[in-house]
Amino acid sequence: MGQPVRVGILGCGNVGGPLVELLQRRGDDIAARTGLQLEVAAVAVRSASKERGVELPHGVLTTDAAAVVNDPTIDVIVELIGGIEPARSLITQALEARKPVVTGNKELLANFGAELFDNAHLAGVDLLFEAAVAGGIPLIRPLRESLAGERIRRVIGIVNGTTNYILTRMTEEGVSYGDALAEAQSLGYAERDPTADVEGFDAGAKAAIIASIAFGARVVAGDVYHEGISGITEADIAYARRLGYVVKLLAIVESVDNAIGVRVHPAMVPASHPLASVRESYNAVFIEGEAVENLMFYGRGAGGFPTASAVLGDLIDASANLRKGSSATIGTLAVTPIRPIDDAMCEYYLNLEVADRPGVLAAVAGVFGRHEVSIRTMEQEGLGDEARLIFITHVAREADVQATLRDLRDLDVVDRVVSLLRVIS
Ligand SMILES: NC(=O)c1ccc[n+]([C@@H]2O[C@H](COP(=O)([O-])OP(=O)(O)OC[C@H]3O[C@@H](n4cnc5c(N)ncnc54)[C@H](OP(=O)(O)O)[C@@H]3O)[C@@H](O)[C@H]2O)c1
Repeated sequence: MGQPVRVGILGCGNVGGPLVELLQRRGDDIAARTGLQLEVAAVAVRSASKERGVELPHGVLTTDAAAVVNDPTIDVIVELIGGIEPARSLITQALEARKPVVTGNKELLANFGAELFDNAHLAGVDLLFEAAVAGGIPLIRPLRESLAGERIRRVIGIVNGTTNYILTRMTEEGVSYGDALAEAQSLGYAERDPTADVEGFDAGAKAAIIASIAFGARVVAGDVYHEGISGITEADIAYARRLGYVVKLLAIVESVDNAIGVRVHPAMVPASHPLASVRESYNAVFIEGEAVENLMFYGRGAGGFPTASAVLGDLIDASANLRKGSSATIGTLAVTPIRPIDDAMCEYYLNLEVADRPGVLAAVAGVFGRHEVSIRTMEQEGLGDEARLIFITHVAREADVQATLRDLRDLDVVDRVVSLLRVIS
């Protein structure tokens, strides 16, 4: 066995702590299997006095992250601080010093990934980030390596555990969005300010990273169209169920006519689709490829140990590559047009509150027809003030459906457009 690989870990929180514990627990097995002795040389934190729950040898803990990066005896850097700064500067310095970097920082990669990948490429060292998307689920390496020759058509992911938990409770227990959110907060699945999760920002950052890797393109968080789940009602969920669907928050990336569509929104998924059975806070990513056909990856998308497991896999890979003098590459990320949401094509579910009198159906159908949105199924239900029309369209263009909605709102026989949901096929 050669010299130990000296590892500098920046951050010892929810993920950094379990990573240190895994390295302590699994170190001998990893050495036996890989010939690599991974030594925790330094752990940088913000507060030196905080209780960590892991035992560290004297002198390993420090509050000077830059000193860890610049220590010439440290071979590999693991960044688990999160956020943009100081993570961006620290990773840049590490790469400039030709040190491989492992990170789980989706926010940073979704905004500055291309710049950091260029730096890693120039330095000829690894920048690995399996933990940044779908936590413990191996996704980035399969996309980058196993599927390197595949023409990927579309990737659909349930990549946010908080929202999947909330939607699962609404579906299975019939509770309201507010009650399900409060429950998720009390269980620690949702933050006190849940905006990043429930409005789709977190899933959007992950969608940008998935699109970059799946299509070798420069896609940033700002390119992602996103809608969250805060407007989903018990009625939407109940209608979806009756029509044979389950409502999920999806990250969808697709390549159409040399442009990349990348969006996050709630959608109705057929109950028979593998993603429909992904419950609670679990994540799953469904990949549609030309030759491989359909694949699904399923598991824990967050949590200290699952995420630390993904970081550890990357750390072993980066250390082995360092010893061999090689590095993994994601190749060149091309500048590719982003397909506007207006051009997205899918089926739609529409729920309209209408007047209960003759001629309503003809007036409503006329608006659909004018915008070339063709109706696949229609149900009429309720009487008087409760009268509703529920439509599922054939595949239509988003801009045409939005124009239909605008005109429907102007019809005096339509009291209210209750909801619109995209339907995945
Ligand atoms: N948690 C998950 O389930 C999960 C899943 C996937 C990806 N990730 C990603 O993994 C990364 C880490 O997440 P986390 O949940 O472990 O975060 P966390 O619990 O907030 O831990 C952050 C750690 O960074 C330290 N830190 C903050 N600023 C620092 C600075 N300037 N210098 C040195 N250390 C500093 C903190 O020190 P103190 O402890 O002293 O405050 C803490 O130990 C994030 O990028 C996150 O997006 C997390």
